[in-house]
Amino acid sequence: MADFPVIRKDSADKGIVIEDDWPGYGLDLFTYPEHYRGDLENVYIPHGVIVNRTECLARRIVEDMEDRHVVALCVLKGGYKFCADLVEAIKSVSCNTARHKTVRVEFIRLKSYLNDQSTEDLQIIGPEDLSVVRGKNVLIIEAIVDTGKTMRALLQHVETFQPKAVKVAGLLVKRVPNVAGILPDYVGFVIPNRFVVGYALDYNEYFRDLNHICVISEQGKLKYRL
Ligand code: HPA
Ligand code: MG
Repeated sequence: MADFPVIRKDSADKGIVIEDDWPGYGLDLFTYPEHYRGDLENVYIPHGVIVNRTECLARRIVEDMEDRHVVALCVLKGGYKFCADLVEAIKSVSCNTARHKTVRVEFIRLKSYLNDQSTEDLQIIGPEDLSVVRGKNVLIIEAIVDTGKTMRALLQHVETFQPKAVKVAGLLVKRVPNVAGILPDYVGFVIPNRFVVGYALDYNEYFRDLNHICVISEQGKLKYRL
C-alpha cells in the first residue's frame, strides 16, 4: 500500500487572511438561489474556494494524525457542510495510503446567536453521552470561531469524556479579540469581524442553503429579522 505522499510541511499555515477592505466579488459573477436576490451584499468566499481550501486542511490533518480511528465531532448547525466536505476530503486523501482513516461522525449542537448578535447564554444540545470519544483522537469541526468562548466551553465538555487527543478544525476565524485565547489547530480563513452567511451559516435559520459564503445586505437583515 502506498505511503502518504508528504506534501510541503507548511507550519506557517495559519489560514488564508482576508483583509478588512476586501470588497468581495460582485453577485452577478456567480450563481446563487434566486430567492436571495437583494438579500446579499457580495460573494465573500466562493464555494469552490471553500472546497479547495478544505482539501488542503484534510491533507494536513491526515499527515498529522497517527491513529487510524478518528471521531469527527460536528458542531451543528453551522458546521454541517464543512464537516461533510472535510470528512469526505479526509477519506479521499487517505484512502489507498498507509494512513487511511476510519472516521466516525458525532454531532453536537450549540446555540448562542439571535439575529446577528451573540447572546451570553450558550446552550450545548446534543448527545448526552459522548463516551464514544474516550481514548480516541477527536477532531472538532466548527464553521466559525470568534471570541473562543464557545470553543472553550465545548472543549471543557469534550474533555470530561477523556479523549486521547483533541484537535479543532475551524473554517473561519474572525479577527476579534479572542478572549478565551483558543484558536483552531486547522484554520481555513481568517476574516474581518463581519456577519457572514451561507455554506450552512445562518441568519435566523436563513441562508444555510446558499453555497458561497456571503455578506448579508441591510434588506436581508430586515427581511429575516426576528
Ligand atoms: N454568521 C453566522 N453565524 C455566526 C457568525 C456569522 O458571521 N458568527 C457566529 N455565528
Ligand atoms: Mg447560527
